[in-house]
Amino acid sequence: MFERRHLLGLEGVSAEEITFLLDSAESFKEVSEREIKKVPTLRGRTVVNLFYESSTRTRTSFEIAAKRLSADTINLSASASSASKGETLTDTARNLAAMRPDAIVVRHPSAGAPHLLARHVDCPIINAGDGAHEHPTQALLDLLTIRSHKGQIAGLTVAIVGDLLHSRVARSNLFGLRTMGARVRFVGPPTLVPPQFADLGAELVNDLHEGLRDADVIMMLRIQRERMNGRYFSSLDEYSRLYCLSVDAVAKARRDVIILHPGPMNRGVEISSTVADGPYSVIMDQVTNGVAVRMAALYVLVGRRRGIEADDGEHSTRDAGTAGGRTAGAAALPLRRAAAAE
Ligand code: CP
Repeated sequence: MFERRHLLGLEGVSAEEITFLLDSAESFKEVSEREIKKVPTLRGRTVVNLFYESSTRTRTSFEIAAKRLSADTINLSASASSASKGETLTDTARNLAAMRPDAIVVRHPSAGAPHLLARHVDCPIINAGDGAHEHPTQALLDLLTIRSHKGQIAGLTVAIVGDLLHSRVARSNLFGLRTMGARVRFVGPPTLVPPQFADLGAELVNDLHEGLRDADVIMMLRIQRERMNGRYFSSLDEYSRLYCLSVDAVAKARRDVIILHPGPMNRGVEISSTVADGPYSVIMDQVTNGVAVRMAALYVLVGRRRGIEADDGEHSTRDAGTAGGRTAGAAALPLRRAAAAE
């Protein structure tokens, strides 16, 4: 079950809650394989995408997810909103909330921005990335991709390589992976792998080949130059020489390793094209799973909550059912309703 009002991060989210979200996403995957990729689950609901930073994957997949659930979507960027005239984030959100949306998805360069909004508006807030803090739906789609390929997450060794210091993806993955029982290595130069991450359960390794040894999963991260206000390595050439994922480096990992990257990739800097497009890469699976995870997040926070209230408890009892050894009842219900409606 996932009874929270908002999805702000994975810190403190339990294994049961994560499993519930992943199982729900698993059920929604099938909708995207249909010829008519739409179910009526969120018909009549409105989802606002409020993006103060650029995005290809997250913004598009939230919009596609909402549309596949039949919700109405509104997209607002910082440059197109009154933020460009000096309006505060809180005022923007309160004005949007006054139009009664059913959820606001927010990406913002400042850590904590979605948490601030959650205190000022009535509707569910979904964090689509806040500064260097968290990116929960990215980590959920990573967990779904890992679970799909490996069967389980517990017991796996996951090496996350690159600019850990500025990575919200790494932080959310650290929380999610540790909660689900994986071993997590943070691999990169000492300036980009601060010792505090050890307190959160990561093993810290500075040598790439040592960090990749016997890894089941490798997740590569981009150097986030837009968040850097100092020099963390002497040159990009030197960084690539030491940390770019080449075919030779991959050979240190397990033979059945899978390679992830949240995107956007800088080919030739943190990952070679041969590896990015090679047989171990599951990077496009991540993108596909992103739609299912965001459908699940919207369903759980918007559709299912309304269903629980409308059904006066009966719906939540049915949701507790299991299928195939996993709690898959959550998403199965809207799909059954969708089938009936078609
Ligand atoms: N992974 C990710 O957040 O990509 P975008 O910045 O394109 O949304």
